[in-house]
Amino acid sequence: MITKWTTELRYKPYQEWSDQELIEIKNKIAQSHWRLGYHIQPSTGLLNDPNGFSYFNNQWYLFYQSFPYGAAHGLKSWAHLTSDDLVHWQDHGPALLPGNTQDSHGAYSGSAIPVDDKLFLMYTGNVRDENWIRHPMQDGAWMDKDNHIQKISTPLIAEPKNGYTDHFRDPQIIKHEDTYYCLIGGRRKDDTGHVLVYQAPEVTGPWSYKTELKFTDENCGYMIECPNILFVNNRPVLIFCPQGIGQDVLQYSNVFPNAVVIGEDFDWETFSFINPSAITNLDEGFDVYATQGFNAPDGRALTVSWIGLPDTSYPSDEEGWANCFSLVKELQIKNNHLYQIPVVENNKLVKQTLNSKEITPQTKISFNMGANLAGSLTIKTELEEELQIILDTTNGKILVDRTNAGVSFATDFGTTRSIKVDSGKTIQADLYLDNTVFELYVNGGQEVITGRIFPQGKRFFVESENIAVKKVSLNKIY
Ligand code: FRU
Repeated sequence: MITKWTTELRYKPYQEWSDQELIEIKNKIAQSHWRLGYHIQPSTGLLNDPNGFSYFNNQWYLFYQSFPYGAAHGLKSWAHLTSDDLVHWQDHGPALLPGNTQDSHGAYSGSAIPVDDKLFLMYTGNVRDENWIRHPMQDGAWMDKDNHIQKISTPLIAEPKNGYTDHFRDPQIIKHEDTYYCLIGGRRKDDTGHVLVYQAPEVTGPWSYKTELKFTDENCGYMIECPNILFVNNRPVLIFCPQGIGQDVLQYSNVFPNAVVIGEDFDWETFSFINPSAITNLDEGFDVYATQGFNAPDGRALTVSWIGLPDTSYPSDEEGWANCFSLVKELQIKNNHLYQIPVVENNKLVKQTLNSKEITPQTKISFNMGANLAGSLTIKTELEEELQIILDTTNGKILVDRTNAGVSFATDFGTTRSIKVDSGKTIQADLYLDNTVFELYVNGGQEVITGRIFPQGKRFFVESENIAVKKVSLNKIY
């Protein structure tokens, strides 16, 4: 197993890795007790951003940023998944591979849109020159119904716009009326982060620059990654990753935040949010980034998040894999607030009610606490490792504490997260536990707190104080 990832190793062409090396990683992973039962995880290596989330050929399509040869941010490709129900996913392995003159140093993040009988993929091709200077371009590719990919041999957008740096990536393609638009994350030469909008009459181009997206008056830090616009009840929702955003604009605890802004309406002429909300955290937990979503043909606004963060090591790295995806979530707006709700299809995971203190590693724990009480819910292993959730309905506070939940990691960013909810009110929550990942949905998805834990123990027990708890075991799919 490689433990020191030099640049050379990270960028070694895929064809130079032997089958044997992949087999060794697979063998190592087969012994892991940190693998997940119903969350999308990489078969080997590192998974990061969701890409190309779409509905095509009567199936859900989803891809992930992948480096298959170890838990490192190396030469990235897109790995391909399909599903009939947004819950059971089939991993078809590498799909969009890096390597030509338009993406030699990585097939970076992007999106997908069905056009006639094909799926159009738009992604960032990264190319480094002999001085290791990055030349990002936005590339296109067609995927047919047999899942064959044909790359388009000239870039759709060959270089960053004047005044912007080589941090220019993650195109999200959308169609409005007869025009295609794409949102691209960028960093201006003055080191501010923005979302650039391009437009084209056809997906293949010609693509021309339109404007910067107007969604806030705040300074969004030095770079915006993974911008995504969705519409919920006709209101625009921007999900984005403003790197380096000031704590005075957005209070966050992670290395980089995944943020959201909601508008009252959207002006397609000027690409402006009308009456945008303040910038808030999409997830109040430890490990969510690069969430991608789209407006599905069934009318729902669906998202999926990377559970993992840039520049962060995870204990599973030494086993040759890292990170996972969240459950697929549906966005709704109620009382001007964004709700994230695990899609209803997840009910298919439910197996049976658990009455014992011991739970299975795949369990959904639903709990309620009355108004003006204090209590807690603790998930413990046989080694006394614990994930604690402390509730206070007098003051409307929820604290999630992973300090002693197992092998520690990312401790520089704190080991607790807390949120405020209405004081003097009951709290209802659903905790989806899947061995080493948890997603806590508070008050029907009003707030979400997501995170990883890496216990050494293998058995889980639930203890609670002043809280009514219902537990159901969930299917282990993977
Ligand atoms: C976000 C990101 C994207 C980029 C991709 C590379 O996590 O840095 O901006 O396209 O990951 O894997």
